[in-house]
Amino acid sequence: MMPMSGELSLVLTFGTMVCLAILLFFLFRQPGSADPWKINRSAIKLGKRLGEGSFGEVYQGLYNNTPVAVKTLIPGTMDPRDFLKEAQIMKTMQHPNLIQLLAVCTEQPIYIITELMKNGSLLDYLKVRVGRLRLYDQIEMAAQVASGMDYLEMKNYIHRDLAARNVLVGENNVYKVADFGLARVLQATPMLSSQSKLYYIPVGKAIFPLRWTAPEAIANERFTIKCDVWSFGILLYEIMTYGKIPYPDLNNSQVKRMVPNGYRMPCPVDPYCSKDVYKIMLDCWKENKHDRPTFRSLKITLRNVRV
Ligand SMILES: Nc1ncnc2c1ncn2[C@@H]1O[C@H](COP(=O)(O)OP(=O)(O)O)[C@@H](O)[C@H]1O
Ligand SMILES: *[C@@H]1O[C@H](CO)[C@@H](O)[C@H](O)[C@H]1NC(C)=O
Ligand SMILES: *[C@@H]1O[C@H](CO)[C@@H](O)[C@H](O)[C@H]1NC(C)=O
Ligand SMILES: *[C@@H]1O[C@H](CO)[C@@H](O)[C@H](O)[C@H]1NC(C)=O
Ligand SMILES: [Mg+2]
Repeated sequence: MMPMSGELSLVLTFGTMVCLAILLFFLFRQPGSADPWKINRSAIKLGKRLGEGSFGEVYQGLYNNTPVAVKTLIPGTMDPRDFLKEAQIMKTMQHPNLIQLLAVCTEQPIYIITELMKNGSLLDYLKVRVGRLRLYDQIEMAAQVASGMDYLEMKNYIHRDLAARNVLVGENNVYKVADFGLARVLQATPMLSSQSKLYYIPVGKAIFPLRWTAPEAIANERFTIKCDVWSFGILLYEIMTYGKIPYPDLNNSQVKRMVPNGYRMPCPVDPYCSKDVYKIMLDCWKENKHDRPTFRSLKITLRNVRV
């Protein structure tokens, strides 16, 4: 055998020590302790109020000295055990166009701690910019949402409440999908705000965002990713109309009756909507859910719209 050079043996010894250290780390690591995401409320400093949602209020906060958003839920809107189970899954969803869940406090009132988005919800963002966006910007919003939804689709995860109010705007034109999966654990309670009654209706023990929901989901009380695609079409309508309520001329009972019978919103004229984009909406609203596009193909179609 060749005698080892001093340099080589030093490298080998060092390598062995590194391997040993890595091995020891994985052997003695307490499962979960490296990632304390179910946290004590005292770890959060609440700051100014950012907004009022349908099921509670949202505050700016500090967690580990990092600015975060803290969503508080009105007691009774969900069962903490159901929520914790769902949050465990939400935590694993990581994509540049999805709001990252950072931590939760599971005693009432439930706190959901997520990354902070400086410019608030897309719905508010659209409403203060009526007529002032280029088609290019509108397509960009939709394409980023489709990108985040493509990831959820790939992970076999269903959003259930895709709408402009659940897309958040960051700096440098970054758009991220929020609140995925939450609707699954929300329950109908008598304490909902008047705003939530505008969007959500009770269906069985759950609540559904009527105007964003595919008719078969309401009929079967069952969501699929194809219902998310339907909601994406409604979200496109919100983007193109700068945040108009979908079916602006219909009341809830008319929506419940007419949409399952084939009624679809016409192409928005004021503000003007591109025919290419309206065609995408109609594809998302196909009666047979299997005829609707995938998020993967929506992402590609949007990138090819003439602007
Ligand atoms: N991560 C966040 N960063 C910044 N603002 C947020 C964040 N999450 C929510 N908000 C603000 O709080 C408001 C309420 O949010 P939310 O509770 O999700 O209500 P809803 O979806 O019913 O409108 C939003 O419209 C937005 O302005
Ligand atoms: C949370 O922290 C407070 C104060 O530090 C403590 O009294 C309480 O027991 C803690 N609760 C839990 C569930 O750990
Ligand atoms: C977000 O808001 C800031 C002002 O607070 C503004 O300068 C910035 O352009 C906004 N970002 C986007 C993407 O609109
Ligand atoms: C909804 O509108 C229709 C037609 O205008 C009307 O007949 C009906 O009473 C309305 N329903 C409710 C609940 O307001
Ligand atoms: Mg929301």
